[in-house]
Amino acid sequence: MTDGTTVTIVLGTRPEIIKLAPVIDACEEREIAYSVVHTGQHYSEELDTVFFDQLELPAPDHNLGVGSGSQSEQTGAMIREIETVLLDEQPELVLVQGDTNSVLAGAIAASKLDCEVGHVEAGLRSFDRTMPEEVNRVLADHAADYCFAPTEQAAGYLREEGIDDDDTIHVTGNTIVDAVMGYRDLAAAKSDVLGELGLDAGDFCLLTAHRAENVDDRERFESLLDGVARFARDADLDVVYPVHPRANERLAAFDLAMPDEITPIDAQDFLDFLRLESTATLVLTDSGGVQEETCILGTPCVTLRDNTERPETVDVGANRIVGVAADGIVTGAHEALSQQNGWENPFGDGHSADRILDIAGIGSAASVGEVHG
Ligand code: UD1
Ligand code: UDP
Repeated sequence: MTDGTTVTIVLGTRPEIIKLAPVIDACEEREIAYSVVHTGQHYSEELDTVFFDQLELPAPDHNLGVGSGSQSEQTGAMIREIETVLLDEQPELVLVQGDTNSVLAGAIAASKLDCEVGHVEAGLRSFDRTMPEEVNRVLADHAADYCFAPTEQAAGYLREEGIDDDDTIHVTGNTIVDAVMGYRDLAAAKSDVLGELGLDAGDFCLLTAHRAENVDDRERFESLLDGVARFARDADLDVVYPVHPRANERLAAFDLAMPDEITPIDAQDFLDFLRLESTATLVLTDSGGVQEETCILGTPCVTLRDNTERPETVDVGANRIVGVAADGIVTGAHEALSQQNGWENPFGDGHSADRILDIAGIGSAASVGEVHG
């Protein structure tokens, strides 16, 4: 879509495809001239095309094919390639979402050209600059003309950093609520993942672990698996672990054995993963998106990290930050199981995508107003 492009959406990884799907759908509904640039950061079918197919998204207009690499090698290659596309398309607005290297590259490239930049899911802070994601989200926020913050807390962090409150910061909710509300019932109706895996609803745990700070460190990864296995033994629960390719690669490189209590499975498509999240007794994760989704779905979560940029999930009682020491995982997981759920979803009402386009003045307003609950 070279002539008259209004919005260019830059994405590159599994969570961006899922969280930008509602924005792409809203662009379609408003008949906006938009284009999608895929950086190619994720390229394996299970992290990429499976989501375009299942969420019925049009194929990207551009796939930059950047692939894997060191932080700067990957980010630098993306900046160069994104700039070429943007110079050609000259969109009015470039949207990026989240905190990956694709987000940083899109924000940097666009911020130096004659267009506005919108950062979806702005203002999240773990205050841990050793994580590449924290650096990416801070820099993307400061490069953006629109910071679409999911919650008031995120907006508050942006204000504290001196970002212009009136013009730049907008509380929209998180587009993951749009996606979960849009697909939860379909997942319940269509997914047969429980039958395929021989699981009973309410009688298993779901594990995801892929973050660099956990799986690239042999001791942390081993301790994480040990803690989850010990808890599973104590609680007499099966654990299924859809393994991200990064974790798979590290398991092999470290020659780490998977404990018997944990069943590794392929990374799942969105409907099957939503079904697993909705029916699990407990979810153990180091994912950002999974902390949000479990909070929205009403499933208790323990986070296998030392901090979170999603404190709202902890504040409402949906999530506990337990680290990766085995004892902490066992204690935290038992506590999470014994607690009542029924918390409120802090991430908005499922109209975030329309709100974002309304605020940016793109297409006919959907009149969704301010974010509620
Ligand atoms: C990236 C994000 C992380 C996000 C995750 C979502 C950064 C710095 N990290 O991590 O925040 O949580 O995506 O899933 O942007 N690989 C494949 N196939 C692929 C992609 C990667 O096999 O399609 C393997 C390669 O061995 C690669 C490794 O995974 O070296 C890491 O990939 P990379 O894109 O650098 O980071 P992620 O761990 O996926
Ligand atoms: N997800 C999925 N299949 C899986 C694991 C995760 O569809 O096997 C989805 C999950 O529903 C969520 C997103 O991937 O929407 C989270 O992505 P990830 O954990 O890779 O990245 P993060 O959110 O940590 O950046």
